[in-house]
Amino acid sequence: MKKVIKNGVIVTATDTYQADLLIENGKISSIGQNFNETGAEVVDANGCYVFPGGIDPHTHLEMPFGGTVSKDDFETGTIAAAFGGTTTVIDFCLTNKGEPLKHALQTWHAKSKDKAVIDYGFHLMIGEMNEDVLEELPTIINEEGITSFKVFMAYKNVFQADDGTLFKTLLAAKELGGLVMVHAENGDVIDYLVKQALAEGKTDPIYHALTRPPEVEGEATGRAAELTGLANSQLYVVHVSCAEAAKKIAEARRRGFDVWGETCPQYLVLDKSYLEKPDFEGAKYVWSPPLRDKWHQDELWNALRTGDLQTLGSDQCSFDFKGQKDLGKGDFSKIPNGGPIIEDRVSILYSEGVKKGRITLNQFVDITSTRIAKLFGLYPKKGTIAVGTDADIVIFDPNVERTISAETHHMAADYNPFEGMKVTGEPVSVLSRGEFVIQNKQFVGKLGQGKYLKRAKYNLSQTEPTKSDELTI
Ligand code: URP
Ligand code: ZN
Ligand code: ZN
Ligand code: ZN
Repeated sequence: MKKVIKNGVIVTATDTYQADLLIENGKISSIGQNFNETGAEVVDANGCYVFPGGIDPHTHLEMPFGGTVSKDDFETGTIAAAFGGTTTVIDFCLTNKGEPLKHALQTWHAKSKDKAVIDYGFHLMIGEMNEDVLEELPTIINEEGITSFKVFMAYKNVFQADDGTLFKTLLAAKELGGLVMVHAENGDVIDYLVKQALAEGKTDPIYHALTRPPEVEGEATGRAAELTGLANSQLYVVHVSCAEAAKKIAEARRRGFDVWGETCPQYLVLDKSYLEKPDFEGAKYVWSPPLRDKWHQDELWNALRTGDLQTLGSDQCSFDFKGQKDLGKGDFSKIPNGGPIIEDRVSILYSEGVKKGRITLNQFVDITSTRIAKLFGLYPKKGTIAVGTDADIVIFDPNVERTISAETHHMAADYNPFEGMKVTGEPVSVLSRGEFVIQNKQFVGKLGQGKYLKRAKYNLSQTEPTKSDELTI
């Protein structure tokens, strides 16, 4: 059915203007004034912004990790994402050494199919680079539409890859048109510091932060950036938490390296002191990289404002406080790493960023949607509002005030790290390819309505024109 979204203020990464949208066959077919389409459903967006749907480039849904499995899956995770104004997620598909990459993909397709309520894609983890992996990569890129590859520089004896693997992945990505993503922390140094702390009887959650100081993130970020320059390749650094790492990314960019950086809401508004909460509550804030001293927040906001960091991911990887986080009682290194963040990513950036004057409204759209679509081969189908694009749309009330709480959130996890935080602005209705997923703050979507997205190759300059059949309605 046709829809007209009337009276809203459309915001893209470049423009803010009053217009109506006509939606047909899941796409925006026209942008203008006073549409008089008989039979069209009229959606009144008076007093609201109309944003392109948020794209979360960093989620771990139903992921085995830390001796358990992350709580939110493709059902609860994507429903919560939609409530929060996100209409696309790109989830990390884990691979096992010695097994075909294709097996891992089958596992991830099985987890997501018939569950996701919004569209989704996968990044693929590279744990080692050898002849078999190299041979499989062209198919993964060209047929599976997976064009971003994750290398972990931390989690020794679990996910960590060596520098040889990182370098070879950078070379392969350059040749084949992929973007390499890194979790940049020095896993060997962390391993040493963790063992030392435990040997000294330091077992509380705060030691998670103290054994992963900013230097180990800065060092790994700088190393990955240097290797990217050497390989003349392209790099995306996930979950940048501190000034040291942001500075390395900025330096690399000044030197002309193709290096990008993502931060997450938790690093913008929470700090290390949360890990000192009594009664093991600090475990709720254990993720990697860890929360930092408060002054780092200003550096991260500045980096977003100046463009030294370009995107916001949630790093959603939720575990219940009771029954999962408590695996690490008496040993901080056994606390499953991660938190429930997917739902509040967009709202926090709007409230703390736009409302408080740290970034502009258009930057907000760029950081939560447009730039992510461009980097990960989804643009212009996703990430903007223009004729021919998917009608992934968020109708956002910028004035409503609410308090974040686990009592009202839609994630499966039993706590919210932002509990009690007041935010201004909230999605009222959210459409995925022209269909309501959230309507007047109620979930009206269907499990399985989200589609798997095959993504285009990394193409920074967008020199290849978009094929017309991808955009015509
Ligand atoms: O602690 C975190 N961030 N958990 C998820 C896995 C990762 O490192 O991104
Ligand atoms: Zn297998
Ligand atoms: Zn990570
Ligand atoms: Zn992550």
